[in-house]
Amino acid sequence: MSPLKAFQEALRQSPENIPLLLLYGRACLEELQMEDAVSAYEKAVELDSRHTDAQLGLARALLLSGDASGAAVRAELVLQQDPLCAAAHLMLSRVHLAEGDKTRARHHFNRAAQLDSSALDVGLEKDLGQTLLDARKAQQSNSGNGAADGKEGASEGGFGSDGGSDLDDEVFMDEPPYDWRPETFWMPGDPERERLSFEDIGGLESVKEEIRRKIVYPLQQPELHRAYGRPVGGAMLFYGPPGCGKTLLLRAVAGEAQCNYLSVGLHEIFDPYFGSTERNLHQMFETARFNAPCVLVIDGLDSLAQDRRQVRESQLRNVVNQLLHEMDALRVGNHRVLVLAATSQPWSLDPALCRPGRFEQSIFVPPPDEKAREVILRELAEEKPLGHVDYKALVKATEGFSGADLRWVMDRAAELTLGEAMAKGHGAPITGALLLKVAEEHQPTTRDWFEGMRSVESEAVTERSWMTSEVKKFAERSAKR
Ligand SMILES: Nc1ncnc2c1ncn2[C@@H]1O[C@H](COP(=O)(O)OP(=O)(O)O)[C@@H](O)[C@H]1O
Ligand SMILES: [Mg+2]
Repeated sequence: MSPLKAFQEALRQSPENIPLLLLYGRACLEELQMEDAVSAYEKAVELDSRHTDAQLGLARALLLSGDASGAAVRAELVLQQDPLCAAAHLMLSRVHLAEGDKTRARHHFNRAAQLDSSALDVGLEKDLGQTLLDARKAQQSNSGNGAADGKEGASEGGFGSDGGSDLDDEVFMDEPPYDWRPETFWMPGDPERERLSFEDIGGLESVKEEIRRKIVYPLQQPELHRAYGRPVGGAMLFYGPPGCGKTLLLRAVAGEAQCNYLSVGLHEIFDPYFGSTERNLHQMFETARFNAPCVLVIDGLDSLAQDRRQVRESQLRNVVNQLLHEMDALRVGNHRVLVLAATSQPWSLDPALCRPGRFEQSIFVPPPDEKAREVILRELAEEKPLGHVDYKALVKATEGFSGADLRWVMDRAAELTLGEAMAKGHGAPITGALLLKVAEEHQPTTRDWFEGMRSVESEAVTERSWMTSEVKKFAERSAKR
């Protein structure tokens, strides 16, 4: 009987024997039976998610079968339980090396060496071009630096002659200063959050209903949803042309869903220092996890989540990878965190971000409908001297206009009226007729957006189509105008 067969036989007798599962998993790896290895370790993890060897075995099997980010998630779970686990750092080192990121690989390698001098991995050492001894030496000189001559400037020691590994440790401190603050953090009952709710947003009824169904109700009655096998938490992407209310809707979710609400401006997360952006991202997710159940809002995802293939060599790639890790960790850990993000360029997102378990669900936010346009126009009108306006006609004339387009119409009409007033020497209100005329001559910017989407989707073979039947409907309407 082959060794694998023997294990299978034994497992039939005691299918929940974790040590046996681990032995079988290792035997499968040795026989290059990756799939079987993964399922054996998965079974073990299912039985005991806090079992370090099971998690790390699974990480190894995943890495060997090409799923580096899955492997990273497992290693990070172990580190969450036990930050001093050298083996988990070695695993992360291998993951980063597999992803071509030697700097981070070396960082974790150093960390492992620091934690456990017997944590040896000769193959990894060779690949990293660095011996364990070097790692330890670098470390000793590091702590020597800090203790002996503080005033000579740690930066000189860090960035100076003795190079590589020193720099790494500077960059990846374990307890970094927390130098960003969430834009918004609200707990239930906070009076601030009630200021904006769906009532304040005109029209868009079907979008609101979708948000209630997918976001608000599940958070309100998680048990009920779970009983029916419906997910609570996860991630959702809002997309649509710019200026059509995505940011507004994200903000209004706070007024609708009574749970912790954390919103972060990406400008606060970005940091020019190498590695700091990733760390900030991690802290942001940690904060959300710590405050679960929580809605975590990331607006303007465009700037962060570009296609990794376009930014292969740059720092942004690490940031995207970090975001992928964080989202996987959320899913695996079954944390009650709902991530909401918005972008007006969904096609430029890294495809990996849209795979199952990440932003697999999305909500299209179309240009404002008639009701929404009337609300926006009336709001804009409050700021200007206006004569009689036939809102019905104006609303009809502005089909496909974004909030920004409507503002442009108002501003342009005000400018023309002002010019005339100056010529005549006396003022006059902006007329409804002028507003109509300006609107009819204006080409809404959303049209470019729909055309852009159409051409992207016809040119490139994208993994996922954003041109749903609903989007198509709006695109056709906008093309007719
Ligand atoms: N349905 C709506 N109701 C009220 N105002 C709206 C609506 N849609 C857009 N607006 C207006 O347009 C502006 C731009 O919307 P915003 O949410 O920033 O767009 P996006 O995030 O999609 O680019 C808002 O500040 C708001 O004044
Ligand atoms: Mg916005």
